[in-house]
Amino acid sequence: MAKLTQLSRSVRGKVVLVTGAGSGIGCATVKLFANEGAHVAVTDLVANSVEPVVNAITGAGGDARGWSLDVGNGDEVRRVISAAAAHFGGLDVLVNNAGISRPTPIDGDQYEDHWNETLNVLLTAQMRTVRAALPYLRESKAGRIINIASTEGLGATRFSSPYTTAKTGVIGLTRSLAVELGDQGITVNCVCPGPINTGMTESIPNSDKAKFARRRVPLKRYADPEEVAHGILNLALPASSYITGVALPIDGGLTIKNT
Ligand code: NAI
Repeated sequence: MAKLTQLSRSVRGKVVLVTGAGSGIGCATVKLFANEGAHVAVTDLVANSVEPVVNAITGAGGDARGWSLDVGNGDEVRRVISAAAAHFGGLDVLVNNAGISRPTPIDGDQYEDHWNETLNVLLTAQMRTVRAALPYLRESKAGRIINIASTEGLGATRFSSPYTTAKTGVIGLTRSLAVELGDQGITVNCVCPGPINTGMTESIPNSDKAKFARRRVPLKRYADPEEVAHGILNLALPASSYITGVALPIDGGLTIKNT
């Protein structure tokens, strides 16, 4: 059928950089974007987690290149983002995904160390990557920033105050930058995943996951990382040009369930 609409629902040819792409949601995200014809920069703190992801993508006929990147290090962030933009000839989509979880009670001995590390990796790093990527996103016809927040940015769990504080901050950063960058044609959104089966949740016993999902999640299960990746890709589409400043729950209904 002839096309009756204007906007593209494809990321083919876009250049996408994802942090923390060696596993979990980040890995599923680069694979999805590559499957859809984007050029992907695969970056992660754990250098040897990058190569298998790049090989999986190139082996399947996609275009990917990997860089080791600690988002906690400003110099590395600037160097890798410029290298990726030089390699692919620009940058259209930045996905701020890298994350850690260090549950600690407020009076725990390690609390301040965990606070500083968590805020640095989850929140300050997102500001750093945006600042480094901005010149390239401005050059793009449809610059997109997608930050990974959490349902912990919409509510709270015991012993997770650094994480909850950081993820709440991610939502604030997203809204603030959406307002600031709107006149530059750049949209800024975040997703709030609920319980997802990734490295971050692998130490939780399956019986505890099943119990939690049965009681709290209307869809009664943890999600696969790919289900989050599809939400991220939707926000990156050229057709999502009027969506900015949103915090999109991808949580099986967790945050809207009362009883
Ligand atoms: P994951 O542990 O599988 O992946 C996190 C990735 O981030 C790892 O590959 C890790 O090496 C990388 N990373 C950690 N520190 C880094 C640093 N300093 N620099 C660069 N990379 C670094 O976990 P998952 O679940 O895929 O996490 C991705 C994002 O999703 C995180 O921001 C997390 O907070 C968020 N999230 C996860 C949920 C879940 O249930 N799994 C729920 C809500 C949010």
